Amino acid sequence: MTQDESATPEAGTTAGAGTTPDAGPSAAAPGPVAVVGGGVMGATLVGAVLAGGLAPGDVRVAERSAARVAELVAAHGVQGTADNVAAVTDAAVVLLAVKPDVVAPVLDEIAPHLAPGALVVSVAAGVPLAAYESRLPAGTPVVRVMPNTPALIGRGASAIAAGTAAGERHLALAERLLAATGLVVRVAEKDLDAVTAISGSGPAYAFYVIDAMAEAGVLLGLPRDLATRLAVATVEGSAALVRESGDHPVVLRERVSSPGGTTVAAVRQLDVHGVRAGVLAAAEAARDRSRALGAAYGA
Ligand SMILES: NC(=O)c1ccc[n+]([C@@H]2O[C@H](COP(=O)([O-])OP(=O)(O)OC[C@H]3O[C@@H](n4cnc5c(N)ncnc54)[C@H](OP(=O)(O)O)[C@@H]3O)[C@@H](O)[C@H]2O)c1
Repeated sequence: MTQDESATPEAGTTAGAGTTPDAGPSAAAPGPVAVVGGGVMGATLVGAVLAGGLAPGDVRVAERSAARVAELVAAHGVQGTADNVAAVTDAAVVLLAVKPDVVAPVLDEIAPHLAPGALVVSVAAGVPLAAYESRLPAGTPVVRVMPNTPALIGRGASAIAAGTAAGERHLALAERLLAATGLVVRVAEKDLDAVTAISGSGPAYAFYVIDAMAEAGVLLGLPRDLATRLAVATVEGSAALVRESGDHPVVLRERVSSPGGTTVAAVRQLDVHGVRAGVLAAAEAARDRSRALGAAYGA
C-alpha cells in the first residue's frame, strides 16, 4: 500500500489512488461479505447488501442469539452462524454491527482469521479508526461509518471515513454496500463528530420538531392524529422540496412569507424564542459529547 493509496480523504473528495485490482475486494467484485452482529443495524446492512446486488449465498451473518440467526436466515436466505470466526474466515468484507463496547473483544477474536486484504467496515458509533487499526493485522483497510436510523427504511444519511490503509477502491466498495441505506458521503475522520451532531443525532431533532408541531395543532384544537399526520407530511414534503428544487431553504421560506401574513408572524416567534440558536447549541453539545465518547474509547 503506497502513501497515496492510504490517504484519508477530505470532506467530499476522492481518496487516494488505491487501485491495485488484485489485492482485495472491489465495488465491482465484492466477494463474500460477513456481517457480525445481527441486531437492528446488522439486519439493515444484510438487507442493504442484498439490495445492492450481492447473492444471498455470498452473505453471512454472525450473531450470538441462535433464534436471531434463524430469523435472519429465514428472512433473507443468507448464511447464518453463531461463530464470528467461521463467518469472517475467507470473507472479503467484514461489516461490524455490534455495540461499541463489544467492538474490541470482537476484533481480538476475528483478527487472526481475517483473509489478507479483507476490508473491515464498522458502523459502531464513536469508535475511532485507530482502535481498529491497533487490533487488526497491519495494513488492514478499515472504513468507519456513521449511519442514522432512517437507514432502516432506505432513507438514511451516512458518512464514511477511511483508515490509513483504505483507499479509493475500499471507499467505493463501502459506498456500494451501503447504497441501499440512503445517502452516503465521504468525510475525513476528524469531521465524524460534526456528522454525528447533524445526521447521526439529527433524526431526534426532526422528531422533536414534528412532535412540537403536532402538539401545537392540538393546542389549536385539532385532533392529535390529524395534527401529527399534517406535521409529518409537512416536514417530509418540505425536505423533498429543498432537495428537488435545489433552492436555498431561506429562498423557499421567503417565498411562503407574504407581507404582513401568517407565516412571517410565526417565523418571528421562532426567532424570538431562539429556535435557530437552540439548534446550533444542540449540535455543538452533540459534537462535544461525541468527542468525549471517542476520547474515552482511546482515540
Ligand atoms: N440502530 C441505529 O440506528 C444505529 C445508528 C448509528 C450507529 N449504530 C451502531 O450500530 C451498532 C449496532 O447497533 P444496533 O442498534 O444494531 O444494536 P443491537 O440491535 O443491539 O445489535 C447488536 C447485535 O450484536 C450482537 N452481539 C453482541 N455481542 C456480539 C458478539 N460478540 N458477536 C456477535 N454479535 C454480537 C447482539 O446480540 P445480543 O442481543 O445477544 O447481545 C445484537 O444482536 C452500534 O455500534 C451502534 O453504535 C446504530
